Amino acid sequence: MAQSDPGPGASTGTAPAGTDERPPVQAVILVGGKGTRLRPLTLSAPKPMLPTAGVPFLTHLLSRIAAAGITDVVLGTSFKAEVFEQHFGDGSDLGVSLRYVTETEPLGTGGAIRNVLSELTAENILVFNGDVLGGTDVRAVLDTHTASGAEVTLHLVRVGDPRAFGCVPTDDDGRVTDFLEKTQDPPTDQINAGCYVFKRSVIAEIPPDRPVSVEREVFPALLAQGRHVHAFVDSAYWRDMGTPEDFVHGSADLVRGIAPSPALTGVRGESLVHDGAGVAPGALLIGGTVVGRGAEIGARARLDGAVVFDGAVIEAGAVVERSIIGFGARIGPRALVRDGVIGDGADIGARCELLRGARVWPGVVIPDGGVRFSTDV
Ligand code: GDD
Ligand code: MG
Repeated sequence: MAQSDPGPGASTGTAPAGTDERPPVQAVILVGGKGTRLRPLTLSAPKPMLPTAGVPFLTHLLSRIAAAGITDVVLGTSFKAEVFEQHFGDGSDLGVSLRYVTETEPLGTGGAIRNVLSELTAENILVFNGDVLGGTDVRAVLDTHTASGAEVTLHLVRVGDPRAFGCVPTDDDGRVTDFLEKTQDPPTDQINAGCYVFKRSVIAEIPPDRPVSVEREVFPALLAQGRHVHAFVDSAYWRDMGTPEDFVHGSADLVRGIAPSPALTGVRGESLVHDGAGVAPGALLIGGTVVGRGAEIGARARLDGAVVFDGAVIEAGAVVERSIIGFGARIGPRALVRDGVIGDGADIGARCELLRGARVWPGVVIPDGGVRFSTDV
């Protein structure tokens, strides 16, 4: 945490040539993770690009940033970097100005933030994990940061089981006192929500050109040095979309209107069926089910909290509960998929039963009745 830097004035950011004007706040989104917990879906698409209520997940976050009046956004990419620019381009469709910085080797969360330093000209930088669905007032996080005079401000939320997150105790003044990433023995239910405000000068202190974890290295080092790290705690909607269970839940919450997103304008309800999808008479779509473009749902199929990607086929009488069905996959007649992930183009035979965390790899073909959890074929 002691790196010399020429400072904002030497940066090649977006300030118009010949002026000293700098945007007051910029945003950085970290989207370079491999999304391993969402495999096999993330073999073909990076996690933030997975369709969620009909648009790539990142659209929801970008829309929220734009709605907060922040237009200068840098994406820190690594895994499948090119896919982001192919889809979002310069960001103008969403009302933001997007730039992309790609790591040749994954640099970790802290390394990724440091790696975009040359694009940063503002004094305060908002940093987002790219897989969080939330309704937090971004401006309020910034206001807390400014009011406290902290060098870094962390958005925190309270969860039932903090062990899968960064556990962040605070004192009575709202100062962060410790940062314990994924501890088995969390001292508080407050966790790191994956949104930070950094003074640019602090980002400049992160060692360049090597992997650095912001959670395991940068935050603990700042605290050990007695630096002012502040907390913004709220109770707005929040969900990390990194596991199949959370992805399914978050998608259903968007469809039903429980999770806010400026990217969704239509009426919310029990299901969302996209253009060109076919739903046969007698099919039941509930629980925030989403059906992608060109997908086909057969007669008497029952979809409860299902996420059906574009071009997938659910045959007559099949049941899909709290599961993700990948692009072009087929679920055979009267098959049951519950709490599962079916990879792109996989073919699940009639009457198969895939339960409790089953993951089928892309293109795999399971014959009729080929996998059962019960005996009554
Ligand atoms: N550019 C880049 N390079 N991005 C990365 C890299 C990298 O090497 N590694 C991870 N990321 C991105 C991911 O794409 C994701 O958007 C974000 O950083 C966080 O990574 P995850 O893999 O999703 O981390 P996590 O969910 O286990 O934990 C993090 O998020 C929790 C809240 O959702 C931590 O920040 C926890 O402390 C936090 O509680
Ligand atoms: Mg995550």
